[in-house]
Amino acid sequence: MSDTPLRLGVNIDHVATVRNARGGAYPDPLRAAKLAEEAGADGITAHLREDRRHISDADIDGLMEVLSVPLNFEMAATDEMQKIALRHKPHAVCIVPEKREERTTEGGLEVAREENRLAHFIAPLRDVGCRVSIFIAADPKQIEAAHRIGAEVIELHTGAYCDAHAEGRVDDAQRELEALRKMSAFAHSLGLEVHAGHGLSYDTVQPVAAFPEVRELNIGHFLIGESIFRGLTPAIQEMRRLMDEARQ
Ligand code: PXP
Repeated sequence: MSDTPLRLGVNIDHVATVRNARGGAYPDPLRAAKLAEEAGADGITAHLREDRRHISDADIDGLMEVLSVPLNFEMAATDEMQKIALRHKPHAVCIVPEKREERTTEGGLEVAREENRLAHFIAPLRDVGCRVSIFIAADPKQIEAAHRIGAEVIELHTGAYCDAHAEGRVDDAQRELEALRKMSAFAHSLGLEVHAGHGLSYDTVQPVAAFPEVRELNIGHFLIGESIFRGLTPAIQEMRRLMDEARQ
């Protein structure tokens, strides 16, 4: 049993994906964010991509205005995004790699190769009070580099574990999970706060939620998908229940 609470960050990007499919205002990601808050989300995550394929600048303006829980603003390490983050000063900024041709964030950030640039990039964000999180693979080199550049938080990419699980590659899923477990403990031992996310579902959340060092899970696509079948509030409540159960 872990006595540290585990937060749930609900990523609302794909409410905006559905809205943008018709180019209008419905469904409204802000309404989804407020509902997620009421359903027990501890934070809301939104990724403003360079191509604005889902979340828009106006969505970020609106989220900053209406949310009672913290906003975790996901962004690439570009000058444009840095300016936007410095203007809004969200509670947290999560730096993610971004490629135009990818469907979703495919891998973790290469911190080790870009240490100097990233250290300079995150410094002003930290200066204005944002908690800076770096989205990385479960790789000790990347964790050490994230620590050296002054990040307070790392978010471990759970995509490889979830993909292996979905494809029935049981041994691979187990190996990925073991890497996530070890790297959570390693990052924690360096003083980093550990978050995790990407691809998590009811079937995959519990082993990750059980790692005592993990303090936050960020979950989007599955919850928005599941809300088609059972509604957003029950979908989030069930995820919360599974997380709490795993934590005991
Ligand atoms: N965490 C980060 C850093 C992400 O980039 C994403 C996807 O935008 C998620 C968590 C959520 O992933 P998913 O939508 O697959 O649950």
